[in-house]
Amino acid sequence: MSIQFEEKTSSFILQTEKSTYIMQIQRQKFLSHVYWGGKILNPNVEAMVKAAGRASFSATTDGDSQFSLDTMPNEYPAYGNSDLRMPAYQVQLENGSRITDFAYEGYEIVKGKPALKGLPSVYAESGEEAVTLLITLKDALTGLKLILSYTVMKGFDAILRSAHFLNEGKKSLKLLRALSMSMDFDSYDFDMITLSGSWARERHEVRRALVNGTQSIESRRGASGHSENPFMALVSKNAGEDRGEAYGFSLIYSGNFLASVEVDQYKTARVAMGINPFDFSWTLEPGEEFYTPEAVMVYSNTGIGEMSRTYHRLYRSRLARGKYKNAERPVVINNWEATYFDFNEEKLRELAKEAAALGIELLVLDDGWFGKRNSDTSSLGDWFVNEEKLPGGLKGLADAVKEEGMKFGLWFEPEMVSPDSRLYEAHPDWCLHVPDRFRNLGRNQLILDFSREDVQEAIITMLSDILGSAEISYVKWDMNRNITDIGSELLPADRQMETAHRYILGVYRVMEEITEKFPQVLFESCSGGGGRFDPGILYYMPQNWTSDDTDAVERLKIQYGTSLVYPVSAMTAHVSAVPNHQTGRVTSLEFRGDVAMAGNFGYELDAAKLSGEEKETVKAQITAYKRLRKLIQYGDFYRLLSPFEGNHTAWMFVSEDKKEAVVFFYRVLNTPNDALYRFSLAGLSEELVYELEGTDNVLSGSQLMNYGLNVPAELTWGDFRSKMFILKAK
Ligand code: DGJ
Repeated sequence: MSIQFEEKTSSFILQTEKSTYIMQIQRQKFLSHVYWGGKILNPNVEAMVKAAGRASFSATTDGDSQFSLDTMPNEYPAYGNSDLRMPAYQVQLENGSRITDFAYEGYEIVKGKPALKGLPSVYAESGEEAVTLLITLKDALTGLKLILSYTVMKGFDAILRSAHFLNEGKKSLKLLRALSMSMDFDSYDFDMITLSGSWARERHEVRRALVNGTQSIESRRGASGHSENPFMALVSKNAGEDRGEAYGFSLIYSGNFLASVEVDQYKTARVAMGINPFDFSWTLEPGEEFYTPEAVMVYSNTGIGEMSRTYHRLYRSRLARGKYKNAERPVVINNWEATYFDFNEEKLRELAKEAAALGIELLVLDDGWFGKRNSDTSSLGDWFVNEEKLPGGLKGLADAVKEEGMKFGLWFEPEMVSPDSRLYEAHPDWCLHVPDRFRNLGRNQLILDFSREDVQEAIITMLSDILGSAEISYVKWDMNRNITDIGSELLPADRQMETAHRYILGVYRVMEEITEKFPQVLFESCSGGGGRFDPGILYYMPQNWTSDDTDAVERLKIQYGTSLVYPVSAMTAHVSAVPNHQTGRVTSLEFRGDVAMAGNFGYELDAAKLSGEEKETVKAQITAYKRLRKLIQYGDFYRLLSPFEGNHTAWMFVSEDKKEAVVFFYRVLNTPNDALYRFSLAGLSEELVYELEGTDNVLSGSQLMNYGLNVPAELTWGDFRSKMFILKAK
């Protein structure tokens, strides 16, 4: 890992383990992109720079008839001075003009990685494991400074980018757009992969060819959202799990985002990512500054699988923080689908007793324990215990759960307020709203205005009181609606378009304080399942409820898609009752267990209703999971067969030393007289031989990765069949 400035060619050369990234200062003024791809030793930058005069409508720059920014590959393109592709930023001056002219001023290379104020970001654990390049540009007319930050980290083929604006002028300026990164590829011969979906169908892998024009994904929902995830990859046409090139772009942000590729008239592809410019602006008074969120760019020339594993390692070890970053995650039981709002202390004690006998380690009390909440129509914001349901209070219940040998966890939805609540009665102005307009409800609730410090403080106090009132070891932090009626009572008219971003900054601040104050608590984020499953939240909370859809067949696609970027240790997966509450599908307990075991495992059903035989199956699942969980939660993850391509799914987990592996194979529907099926494994050592647990088979790594494993004949009977294979090096 290194960053160098080469005087001769005025270029910056960033080296990671297996990739190289090059930029050049052209005409002592403009920062151009030269290369990002497989590692080049001693690059000859001159031989890489392509300049072609184009007979076209492109305007020339600074009076130089031979030069146009419209044809130069740009690093962080401005608007208005001849590059007419999509700009990375745009600034409005007091005189109404939106054109800037930034010129290169200088650079600094620093050890380590500076933090981004108020924003989550990847961190370096020491100054030795990262190096950061800060490139400064300045607009002479306004005095606005722009600092572009690029970090490379030891052991990761990743470039971490962000931008920092600083108004050093004398007048007020308004950012109309401030993306985190932009980069020009010299061709568009790629497929674009995004993670798209909906509530209960999150993060399905969508792959399409790039075509002329702009193709983008975005959120205007106030959160990263269920429908698109702040991630995009450009992959070579031949790219698969273990072959081809993959360029990943992931944004550490939880609000409205934009990820876009513009294929222009000259067949280049401009990739850009950042806060969605839609309904965004940010005023910078003299002396004020603005940091964009961080974009994490990962390169692999050995396939999409390697790109994912880089993200997994990075997000697991240098984004997640706190006690649970490397700790084995407990097997939980959550009462939501078991009881919904209909529970009392007795019922929960019974659930705890049953669960403990099965080997479950933590009981999560979900929605409905506070205020007078017996349905989703009231009480959000009234974070005090409902003593009619829980006469012994939270402490009484937590102690009872502890007596069963389990830990206790609690659900909150801190960002919301029900119109039918004491909080709303006392502070009707505390929600996001627009003066004199109807306040639109989602799931019968309004959204607290987290852009306000007084609201942030009040929530911090309420959460702290509850978390301090009993032994609470886990928190599920939910958020259950899209954000509408964007408007904040405290912001002046010309800053109203800052509301959505300020809201997210407020959420981050509250999360930072609460997680710091209660370091022993395992925090899990949730947003109607996976509506805010993004790297921003993972900085505060190391795991996320992957989806409200617990149907095992649907989960194959959801968990597979999610794994494109997010580590398995971030994904929570539960076995629930059948018929499934989201799809009505009936699958076997074994199949449901095998799917949920490929995540942070748990149950979401009434354990008292399980038959004796089912209880034995559950016990066996929990025993197996406890034995394997370190490998599953922290091992290297290999996708083998895609649920998006057929009836079979398979994935596996391999230990760092390659001596242990667990493989899951799933067949959704049975097909009579089908081919006798085998599938190849990955990530093992060719030098080692492995014992296949439960058999006398000793198989070489090379056989397992080339021939593979036969699918046992028993799986050719019935639908929804699965099998777990455990391998240990001899
Ligand atoms: C949505 C979550 O995704 C569910 O798991 C559950 O916690 C409900 N909210 C409770 O209201």
